[in-house]
Amino acid sequence: MRVAMIGTGYVGLVSGTCFAEFGINVTCIDKDERKINKLLNGEIPIFEPGLDVLVERQTSAGRLKFTTDLETGIAGAQAVFIAVGTPSRREDGHADLSYVYQAAKELAPLLKDYTVIVTKSTVPVGTAREVERIIKEENPDAQFDVASNPEFLREGAAIEDFMRPDRVVIGTDSPRAQDVMRQIYRPLYINETPIVMVAPETSELIKYASNAFLATKITFINEIANLCEKTGANVQQVSKAMGLDGRIGGKFLHAGPGYGGSCFPKDTLALAQIGVKHNAPQTIVEQVITANKNRQEDMAKRIIAAFDGDVKGKTIGILGISFKPNTDDVRDAPSLVVVPMLQQAGANIKAYDPEAREQAEKHFQNVDWKDNAYDVADNADALVILTEWNEFRALSLREIKEKMTQPLLLDFRNIYTEAEIREKGFRYISIGRQEINADSAAALKAAV
Ligand code: UDX
Repeated sequence: MRVAMIGTGYVGLVSGTCFAEFGINVTCIDKDERKINKLLNGEIPIFEPGLDVLVERQTSAGRLKFTTDLETGIAGAQAVFIAVGTPSRREDGHADLSYVYQAAKELAPLLKDYTVIVTKSTVPVGTAREVERIIKEENPDAQFDVASNPEFLREGAAIEDFMRPDRVVIGTDSPRAQDVMRQIYRPLYINETPIVMVAPETSELIKYASNAFLATKITFINEIANLCEKTGANVQQVSKAMGLDGRIGGKFLHAGPGYGGSCFPKDTLALAQIGVKHNAPQTIVEQVITANKNRQEDMAKRIIAAFDGDVKGKTIGILGISFKPNTDDVRDAPSLVVVPMLQQAGANIKAYDPEAREQAEKHFQNVDWKDNAYDVADNADALVILTEWNEFRALSLREIKEKMTQPLLLDFRNIYTEAEIREKGFRYISIGRQEINADSAAALKAAV
């Protein structure tokens, strides 16, 4: 079995490498010569735990190859995956499909034997059919079918997600293409992973509906957290108990500073646009987009409010810049909103992220970058946890407190418990749990 993967971005590289792990011969193709050269030299252009080991193993075994040449790349492939970028168009939030269509145009004249062309990028409803039309137009003699096969990979857990998915979705009307796709996913099929065979339009919509639903779940619990703060309820206990209801499920119910990343913000915008285009408005999703934007801004406002509205000249330490742990990705991260708002209000920013500094430096100015959390705490007037990296879960709070000018901790990921913080005498502001300040903490301790 031989497949080609066009695009060595996040999805293409992870999927291609994992297909090679299945025992398939994979060629990854990209126009970006620098990227391909890096990969040929064994360098991984993205940060994804475990990916380097798999790439090394599969390239050494000769199953994984990289090239900039489309013609040699797709030669002999039974399936060609299109995994190029589909960024949001700046003007209207529509997914920009120009790279997908360009790839279809370029590969069409190169097709020889029967090939399945698979759209792996997240694409609006109707794209697979359009890819089919383009290829037919470019090469009326080509023997091919088109299938949609969306990915559901989470950054930081992508390999696990690929190897042990909840389901594989394949959208094609052609039994012959279904057979090829079944062969590709054979190892998962044998493991009894549900393989959902549907029409291309359904497959395309499954991806958007899934991501928009998860984004909605997060936004819902974030608003419940606001209500908890006003009423004295505890959002972690609320989500835990909600999640015990099997119909709801406990995942993606962690309140925080708002979702970010390369998928949820882009896919919710695109789904809203698809709804408008087809005159079936997705009003819930539209509201989620607005609520999440407000949420990220609200985080900066909370920090400013903790200083009674004036952060001029204050030094605020930020722990975590990436949109979530185990990635260096800062796309649509809450930090991109919070840091500039604080700077605008006159605060000085110190920051540390275990992986994202290089990416973040492109977006921020005048940030004093540090190599660890303790240097960030040094002389800081407040410490803000924006991303729940594991290393922030076990900080020596005593040492942190000694270094700070005042012990003010804003934990926007709820990684500490109130009990720990009480004991250490911090003023502590978390999400969906009431604020604890040093005085009440001392009083509470005395009372216990
Ligand atoms: C997501 C989907 O999970 C994946 O299936 C899809 O293919 C791509 O988009 P990813 O963007 O890598 O994956 O990250 P994910 O772990 O889903 O988190 C997205 C955002 O939601 C992050 O900013 C995260 O911090 C936030 N989040 C997640 C919460 O705030 N609360 C939660 O309970 C879960």
